[in-house]
Amino acid sequence: MTGPDNLDQRMTDAGIPPRFRSARVADLTGPLEAFARCHLHDKAREGVGVWLFGAYGCGKTHALAAFAAHLLQAGLRVEWADWFWLFRALRSLGDYGATAAQALQVSRTAPILFLDDFGKPGDVQRETALLFEIVNHRYNHRLPTFFSCNAGPDQLFGPGRGNPDPAGAIWDRFGECVEAVGMKETSRRRAAA
Ligand SMILES: Nc1ncnc2c1ncn2[C@@H]1O[C@H](COP(=O)(O)OP(=O)(O)OP(=O)(O)O)[C@@H](O)[C@H]1O
Ligand SMILES: [Mg+2]
Repeated sequence: MTGPDNLDQRMTDAGIPPRFRSARVADLTGPLEAFARCHLHDKAREGVGVWLFGAYGCGKTHALAAFAAHLLQAGLRVEWADWFWLFRALRSLGDYGATAAQALQVSRTAPILFLDDFGKPGDVQRETALLFEIVNHRYNHRLPTFFSCNAGPDQLFGPGRGNPDPAGAIWDRFGECVEAVGMKETSRRRAAA
């Protein structure tokens, strides 16, 4: 069964938060919509994901959820995690038992992984070190990852950061496994207020 109710259930099962479960590619405009319609399945099947970046409130999480819906509709399996949940579970706070094991499992085995909000924890050095572990594993296994972040990958990991530095290794792998898509819009939250 592939009706809308079934899609909503699959988005729920994938971990997509309630606010974004109605997001669809039809909501997107311009390059984002074209990218989703033309490239998403093929890229994902090749192990290539996306790094979506732009200002607070410009619609990154909404767009990621729309991408996830599009892939689910095509019968692919996706999993969604907030980066700061993953980061905290694996690196800093809280319960290192079941939560950390779950986080590790998700980060390594999700066929297509959506990671929302890289950089929000505000600990760039430790986030980058953890990201390298995840990116390297997923790159080796051709498992695509879809990110959102306020900054572009060149700003965070691009040339000039020097080696040895996991940023340089992330940047280099992204050449094969991540496409960067910048969003120019300003905050929709403020526009709606
Ligand atoms: N294309 C769209 N159509 C309709 N509503 C949208 C669209 N894009 C975003 N929104 C709405 O605008 C608000 C902000 O979007 P969203 O949460 O995706 O921003 P964001 O870029 O992820 O921000 P942040 O960096 O703060 O996480 C949300 O209420 C979202 O549902
Ligand atoms: Mg967001």
